[in-house]
Amino acid sequence: MTVTDPEDGKIAPERMTVGFNFIPYGRDMAGALTQGGALPTPKGKELFYSLDCKACHTENSASVGPSLMDIAGKYEHTDKNTVLLADKVIRGGSGVWGTVL
Ligand code: HEC
Repeated sequence: MTVTDPEDGKIAPERMTVGFNFIPYGRDMAGALTQGGALPTPKGKELFYSLDCKACHTENSASVGPSLMDIAGKYEHTDKNTVLLADKVIRGGSGVWGTVL
């Protein structure tokens, strides 16, 4: 699938989320949008925004801590890394990213 946007140009596939809605009673967009038509927020993102992580991390740019996209790029998505990073979030860690700001 290819998506282009006048502002951002071509959108990378990993940034796309595709949703599908079946509207049984015709083309009622208002109905589609109010009948639970909104895409579910990924669980990790929901958790992130419900905690205090956003005080030091943003999705795309370095703040007090590295951006989530930078962290995602540094660690391969494996069970081992999930455990490693969860442990660091719980116990704390330092020195991996140097002084971010
Ligand atoms: C007080 C600021 C602060 C808060 C709040 C915070 N972080 Fe961080 N985080 C940092 C800093 C600074 C680093 C870089 C540490 C380093 O260089 O090892 C970091 C690094 C990380 C890393 C990468 C660890 C590594 O070793 O590469 C992850 C994952 C992370 N944070 C997740 C979270 C999550 C999830 C939360 C919320 C539960 C959170 N952080 C809240 C400041 C913060």
